[in-house]
Amino acid sequence: MLRHTLEELQVSGLEKIQQAATRDELERARVELLGRKGSLAQISKQLPSLPPEERAQVGYLLNTLKETLERAYQERKAQLEELELRQRLEREWVDLTLPAAGPRPGSLHPITQVQQELEDLFISMGFTVLSGPEVETEYNNFDALNIPPEHPARDMQDTFWVEGGFLLRTHTSPVQIRGMQQLGLPLRMVAPGRVFRNEEVDAAHEHTFYQLEGMMIDRDVSVAHLIYFMKTMLSAIYHQEVTIRLRPGYFPFVEPGFELDVRCLICGGRGCPVCKYVGWSEQLGCGLVHPNVLRMSGIDPDEWNGFAFGLGLTRLAMMRYGIDDIRWLQSGDLRFLQQF
Ligand code: DAH
Repeated sequence: MLRHTLEELQVSGLEKIQQAATRDELERARVELLGRKGSLAQISKQLPSLPPEERAQVGYLLNTLKETLERAYQERKAQLEELELRQRLEREWVDLTLPAAGPRPGSLHPITQVQQELEDLFISMGFTVLSGPEVETEYNNFDALNIPPEHPARDMQDTFWVEGGFLLRTHTSPVQIRGMQQLGLPLRMVAPGRVFRNEEVDAAHEHTFYQLEGMMIDRDVSVAHLIYFMKTMLSAIYHQEVTIRLRPGYFPFVEPGFELDVRCLICGGRGCPVCKYVGWSEQLGCGLVHPNVLRMSGIDPDEWNGFAFGLGLTRLAMMRYGIDDIRWLQSGDLRFLQQF
């Protein structure tokens, strides 16, 4: 009787195992057949009630069946595992020949871009690029530029003072003094850099901004040289031939001193909102180096002279890229920076 049951169980058990389509199904079949409460376990419970000679026989058959089913289970399990692996490999196929995504490219700050372009231009014209310290001596920032103590020109630039006769430079002009000391004559230098003024911040004013200083000293330098270099520089910046004009301007370290304007690039001089209907837009301060400045740095003004200029790099970047609020430039906002 029991033997018959065992034969049936072998047939149905093997079928269940071999037809299991997934690992879960197979596991259920295993529990059902070979588990602690499974079919085989139920049958072995009946063994003690059998007559001894039959008990041995049925016990033997039971063991054989258990081994058969276990082997079938292991085989099916291996098959299913391999199948699953194959399916997964198909699903998760990776094209190793595709180029990698790579790091996200960064970009240079708009002021840095304008600055580097100008450095390259001036280097190509024989100028040296200098950088001076942002914490300067009062002497270099003012006195050596012909702005003595008590001179009203000091009030034109609201200064952040530091202890011990130092200050945050209010312009890049003190690098002129360092250039005259370091470079020897004749000299051609530019000095880009960060400057600081104690200003109320609004859309047009920052306490921290950038300038580019320039200076050329040689024999017989004239306003004609100044005009030539300024025109070359501005044409390069705006990628077109520009028309410039000089107006008298007061800076203690130059004589004569000028404000230099460019004919409005938007309206060509007829007048428009960008140039506030003037037809010209103010670009920089410049002039012929004051004899006192040369003399204070040990240069004989009867033998040498030169021109100097100071350009607002921040303002230039704003005009070139149409940035309408100076505060964007130091916001650190990536939405702004990623546009350049
Ligand atoms: N240092 C001046 C300023 O910040 C700009 C300037 C004017 C620089 C005339 C010069 C110059 O070298 O010749 O307002």
